[in-house]
Amino acid sequence: MTENNSKFNIIYYDSVDSTNNIAKALANGGAREGTVVVAKRQTAGRGRLGRQFYSEEGGLYLSVILRPEILAENAVQITAAAAVAVAKACEEVSGKKAFIKWVNDIYIDSKKVSGILCEGVINPENKTLSYAILGIGINVENKTDFPLEIRDIATTLFEGTASEEVYKKLTFSILENFFKEYRALAHKTYLKEYRKRSILIGKEVTFEQNGDIHTARVIGIDDAARLILSENGNTIKLGAGEVSVKLK
Ligand code: BTN
Repeated sequence: MTENNSKFNIIYYDSVDSTNNIAKALANGGAREGTVVVAKRQTAGRGRLGRQFYSEEGGLYLSVILRPEILAENAVQITAAAAVAVAKACEEVSGKKAFIKWVNDIYIDSKKVSGILCEGVINPENKTLSYAILGIGINVENKTDFPLEIRDIATTLFEGTASEEVYKKLTFSILENFFKEYRALAHKTYLKEYRKRSILIGKEVTFEQNGDIHTARVIGIDDAARLILSENGNTIKLGAGEVSVKLK
């Protein structure tokens, strides 16, 4: 089914390999910004750093085609603005407080409820983005048990089941919240809310870099959405895409 309004062109599927793949193919074919691919299930859902993303029925899997006029190095702003939009939307529909774990995870009750993966294609001539695919996956309801590996660290928005209406509300809330921030991306208005919802600021974390395990305290998030940490009196900055940070 396709839903068309002046802002979004939403294409619904029951099952796909990855909504990011479908959106990419559409973008390569010239699809406009605001084209959205939504699926009930993915057979090859992708996460950050080459990981799989659990994508059985009971989740909302969506990808948005963006044609931003920004340098590729600033693409992290899209992910951060999306994290704010998803956290707000999850909260709106479930009534549960949603937090952000830098850079792209949404947490409820100390467990991951959603992940975001923004994939871009770079124009080699000027290093801007030809287009970007913003992929968002949310565990909405308990239709099937999570696999053992993630059972203790993942959660759903609802303990029981959720109606079609909930999925619709969630989809539109994400899109409305996101595009509000996206239109003003250069002003970085999302950063205040991003920092407010961060579960890492002030906490001790571990991360691996070049084979070494580091333990450091998170001091903040800078304007480029990098994580600022203090390790033995030294200040370190981590960019998205470099590492995965774990709470101690
Ligand atoms: C992560 O947690 O590392 C990011 C997960 C991103 C998952 C979404 S689901 C919709 C879109 N399609 C994909 O294959 N991945 C993203």
